[in-house]
Amino acid sequence: MKITVCIGSSCHLKGSRQVVEGVQSLIAKHDLKNKVELGGVFCMGKCDTGVSVTVDKAYHSVQPENVEAFFKEAVLKKLA
Ligand code: FES
Repeated sequence: MKITVCIGSSCHLKGSRQVVEGVQSLIAKHDLKNKVELGGVFCMGKCDTGVSVTVDKAYHSVQPENVEAFFKEAVLKKLA
């Protein structure tokens, strides 16, 4: 599974760094390093709804405060 977080300037202002850190710590917590690849991209053209994140190409709008809910729904459920 590949997770890509937008680190373009608009998403950066909305907290992409916290989103990346949140996802990183959740990957570690759930011991998913071998199953999940985390990458970054500069702008997905959806700045309005950032922070923009894709999971295997499916688009999600994630905020620092809902990283955990996003991770449960979009990552853990799919890997289960
Ligand atoms: S900066 Fe993230 S979608 Fe444009």
